[in-house]
Amino acid sequence: METLLLDAKNKGATETAANILKNGGLVAIPTETVYGLAANAFDASACANIFKAKGRPGDNPLIVHICNMEMLSEIVSEVPEKAKLLAEKFWPGPLTMIMKKSENIPDVTSANLPSVAVRFPAHPVAKEIIEKAGLPLAAPSANLSGSPSPTTFEHCVHDLMGRVDGIIDGGACEVGVESTIISFVGEKPVLLRPGYVTLEQLRETIGEVEVSHAVLEKLEEGEKVLSPGMKYKHYAPKAQVTLIKASSEDYVKYVNEHSGEGVFALCFDEEAEKLSVSTVCYGSEFSDAQQAEHIFEALRRIDESGAERVYAHSPKVSGIGLAVYNRLIRAAGFDVIEL
Ligand code: TXA
Ligand code: MG
Repeated sequence: METLLLDAKNKGATETAANILKNGGLVAIPTETVYGLAANAFDASACANIFKAKGRPGDNPLIVHICNMEMLSEIVSEVPEKAKLLAEKFWPGPLTMIMKKSENIPDVTSANLPSVAVRFPAHPVAKEIIEKAGLPLAAPSANLSGSPSPTTFEHCVHDLMGRVDGIIDGGACEVGVESTIISFVGEKPVLLRPGYVTLEQLRETIGEVEVSHAVLEKLEEGEKVLSPGMKYKHYAPKAQVTLIKASSEDYVKYVNEHSGEGVFALCFDEEAEKLSVSTVCYGSEFSDAQQAEHIFEALRRIDESGAERVYAHSPKVSGIGLAVYNRLIRAAGFDVIEL
């Protein structure tokens, strides 16, 4: 298939993207978190094509993106009070909320679940495209299933060229990790995926929030999960990755003692010059927001570098660091060393 490459800065580009989407096509679009592969959320066959283009398992539901609160009422059957509080505070923004779905959402979109994940993105290009299409857009991250989420136009081109109708360039994503996901379908709100909107912020706004154990731990074989995406291998680089929990000093010492051919350090900016192996940095030790912004790009660079053995320095496990840790521990296949 021919893939139309668009630049959001050019006149008419978002209009063109919106028209493709209205006609049942697929377009990769920028959001503030990561790029998303969008389709009309009401169109079952367009949504089925998302799964094909990404090689995504059919039981992994899609997030539906909206640009106003009227659209929300078309796709969910009711909005819990606590979800309203979070919407007031964090929408538009990098927060996804799971609620009971309305009949307008086809089963393919929600992977046969009775619920739907909803997000109101803040990115001006995403908002403009949803507004111009006049439709809620289903959009998972615009990567091939299993590879790191795309944070630039080039990442989308690398993964999806020839597999989708269009890709629109809106620059690099500022947040860099996918949205925080909170579920409102059970008795208590549950954090399913940490992101830029932190657990601390959620609790400040609505009180008690449980944390799904899949956020930090490996699932048991065959374990039933609230969020199907969590059971799949994610962000897995070709190299064998180990996550090291240690002070900067101990981390540097450990890696230098384990140097050798094909060994790489996935480290903080401040550590690079102290390391005797090849390095890929993912931000300052002192900025979890920077670490989130660069982590996926760093994982892609590790793959391109031909690394065989990677020692990644663990971020702190709070604030936005929880989101970075959650992605890294999956990249490491849950192989963690605590020094
Ligand atoms: O930031 C983001 O959320 C990006 C941008 C494009 O918006 N999207 C994204 O989508 O990360 P995706 O498909 O890569 O991740 C969606 C996650 C999956 O783990 C999926 O299982 C979960 O959300 N999910 C979607 N609908 C759900 C539902 N009804 N119940 C439980 N989990 C759901
Ligand atoms: Mg994804």
